[in-house]
Amino acid sequence: MAKDYLLPDLNDARKRDKELSQKVHFSFDSEYEGMGKGLYYYIITHGCQANQRDSETMAGILDALGYAATEDEKKADVILINTCAVRQGAEEKVFGEIGALKRLKTSNPDLIIGIGGCMCQEEETVRTLLDKYHQVDIIFGTHNISSLPKMLHDVYTTRQRKVEVFSKMGDIVEDMPVTRFMSHKAWVNIMYGCDKFCTYCIVPYTRGKERSRYKEDILLEVNQLIDQGYKEICLLGQNVNAYGKDLSNDYGFADLLNDVSATGIERIRFMTSHPWDFNDRMIEAIRNNRNIMPYIHLPIQSGSSKILKKMNRRYSKDDYFALFDKLKQELPGYAFTTDIIVGFPDETDEDFKDTLDAVDHCQYDNAYTFIYSKRKGTPAAEFPDATPMEVKEARLQELNKKVAYYANMNNQKFADQIVEVLVDGISKRNSNTYSGYTPENKLVNFTGTDIRTGQIVKVKITEVLSFSLNGIAVK
Ligand code: SAH
Ligand code: SF4
Ligand code: F3S
Repeated sequence: MAKDYLLPDLNDARKRDKELSQKVHFSFDSEYEGMGKGLYYYIITHGCQANQRDSETMAGILDALGYAATEDEKKADVILINTCAVRQGAEEKVFGEIGALKRLKTSNPDLIIGIGGCMCQEEETVRTLLDKYHQVDIIFGTHNISSLPKMLHDVYTTRQRKVEVFSKMGDIVEDMPVTRFMSHKAWVNIMYGCDKFCTYCIVPYTRGKERSRYKEDILLEVNQLIDQGYKEICLLGQNVNAYGKDLSNDYGFADLLNDVSATGIERIRFMTSHPWDFNDRMIEAIRNNRNIMPYIHLPIQSGSSKILKKMNRRYSKDDYFALFDKLKQELPGYAFTTDIIVGFPDETDEDFKDTLDAVDHCQYDNAYTFIYSKRKGTPAAEFPDATPMEVKEARLQELNKKVAYYANMNNQKFADQIVEVLVDGISKRNSNTYSGYTPENKLVNFTGTDIRTGQIVKVKITEVLSFSLNGIAVK
């Protein structure tokens, strides 16, 4: 079955050409206009912020074709799943979900099921989908979202399954329609792809080469968001602070931070910074612009220099500490979080102890911790690994305990303080209970009356927990 289709290829995806990225403009054939009139779509999103933003583009395209969104998958005529391939667990969940959709397809044979995102960049996934999941009509890669109108049209007219996955992509598609899922906070891509090739990671294969958007396009988007009433933007890139390195001028992330700040938008965040690409000009820009929020996510991955080398992270424990200590000193009051992998191939007790020591050194506000997951096609998948899973699980638990300790310790300084919270919405369980985030990205659950999503309200903190704060709105 699968051999009839052009399948993605990780070897091809590994290649990087030196050419500058081309900017292309999105459009679709006028014959597709109104294609979705009277029809409903439902999108399921997995993975990181890049995927969230991609799903907003998918929604924008479907809206432009005349479809309407529904919250009820049983009512849907088109269901799209935007997948993540970063760990095995994420993939298994998706296969389970697709399996469950078979029932809907049986009751509604006209239902179109499309699978997109990072999993579709992997040959094996596409093969499995084609061979075993006959309910799937469309398989599209991360570089092929702009082809959705044509793929849908082709399925309607030919009743044949469609597969479109480019392994390599150097282009930037501008002017794609977007239907944002929130009305007060927005994701803004500033660059796509990743060239770092950490040995455990699938992202450089699934997302293509690093390519930066032009500053004019980014600033235009930010200004439009301000006009639409948005309060917060998060600048996105797999290595957000590598912005501009691929462009043919000296305009970099620090310059962009200054220019985005000058638009006057209330809150600016950015993710994810790579320690290797951080420089003093960025620190200065972050410090000098009051609308850049006092929060930095700086993945360490491991505290062992030996493991960091095997991970191809491009810094040692000492390099990381030197940067971290400088950031801590020059940006007082900022919150710092990180990502940590335990159980990387042949991580010894000694290596793991270095990771625990790193958490003691950095005293993070929070850390996202993962057990290493083997990704086929990445270099680390071939590394010998004798550590039993029980040992890895025990390490994760020990690490999480330490992370929770420092999270709680850092939150204590907010006890009885008044903080500014950008309101995300009303709690589903309790009316008059709202939630939102402080500038330091602390989740606050609070009570109050007459409060709207998107407002920035003052909240007095009455209870401090490890991973959130409770409080009462004050006028
Ligand atoms: N570009 C970002 C994040 C990429 S994925 C960065 O470099 O920080 C988010 C996190 O998932 C990573 O930081 C890493 O901690 C984790 N991760 C990536 N690949 C993994 C794997 N194979 N197994 C376990 N965790 C992984
Ligand atoms: Fe993956 Fe490393 Fe790139 Fe992050 S920097 S996306 S961890 S390869
Ligand atoms: Fe997952 Fe792809 Fe993001 S693998 S973490 S959705 S870049």
